Amino acid sequence: MKVIEELSRIELGTMIIRELMAECDIHHKTKHREINGHIDCCQCSEDKSQLANTRRLETDKARMRVALVNKMKSKGVSANMGCFSAWQYNEPKAAEQHAKIIQLQKYSKSVNSCSPNLVIFGRTGAGKTMLANAVAINHYLEEEKSLPDEFNSYNQQDFYDHTCEMITSFDIAVQAKLHWGNYQMSEHDYIKELVANKLLIIDDLGAGDGYIKDRERIAQIVTLRHKRAPTMITTNMDINGLREYLGDRAWDRLQQNLLVMSCDWESYRAKTADIRIVGAAE
Ligand SMILES: Nc1ncnc2c1ncn2[C@@H]1O[C@H](COP(=O)(O)OP(=O)(O)OP(=O)(O)O)[C@@H](O)[C@H]1O
Ligand SMILES: [Mg+2]
Ligand SMILES: [Zn+2]
Repeated sequence: MKVIEELSRIELGTMIIRELMAECDIHHKTKHREINGHIDCCQCSEDKSQLANTRRLETDKARMRVALVNKMKSKGVSANMGCFSAWQYNEPKAAEQHAKIIQLQKYSKSVNSCSPNLVIFGRTGAGKTMLANAVAINHYLEEEKSLPDEFNSYNQQDFYDHTCEMITSFDIAVQAKLHWGNYQMSEHDYIKELVANKLLIIDDLGAGDGYIKDRERIAQIVTLRHKRAPTMITTNMDINGLREYLGDRAWDRLQQNLLVMSCDWESYRAKTADIRIVGAAE
């Protein structure tokens, strides 16, 4: 290390701090700092601390992504259940599917308390659950953008708690009943938790959930979310069936701000079905 000149010198008790002009292998003639005989190039120190900071932020980002994925899983949303990029377009409906998916993507990226409710109609296997899941994933990813960079600066538990839940209406009934007689979290508390989600997706409405009490519970959830937050529904029923299922009060509220999408194409499951007969000659 070739010192060219001393720029300043501070003595604090036994500590000596000097600013020097010296030769750095990388930055050539530049400012150095000497503390108790140890000399460092200021620019090299700056670069080093920036690199460490970038690495720390990258690690924080990865940790936050893990927290996000875990939260999504616990809320019934999973990358395995499909995202928009995994959608395979099927002729002769490819153009129609494309137009609908563009609209859904747009919806998923700006979910807020004024967003319309959304009902996805269609026969079994048409991809309704996959599309609903894709909307949920995008919504989580949008929320992730407003997180602070540093892992320690937010309460990860709270942050995603009410982002989005996707649950079948059958499971809502099961879960609600599990809370009967539970004094820590009653059925009412459970419903309130569901209602608190920024986006609530009720999947498979009308499948195995036909008891009056179950229908009333769903109607109550839809009613409670009216004008507060959007509700998404997927169902095999048609619009009249849905209306009858929900009853006048809930339907009236749902339809006040409602986007409807119908998946009127054949079942993906049927299209990709591979049925073999056991015992048949190979
Ligand atoms: N266009 C598609 N491209 C790729 N995979 C698809 C497509 N449509 C559906 N799938 C896959 O087919 C399976 C059935 O789709 P999904 O469960 O979303 O149908 P659904 O309309 O919700 O049916 P159901 O009414 O029975 O609940 C899933 O594994 C899904 O990922
Ligand atoms: Mg489904
Ligand atoms: Zn240097």
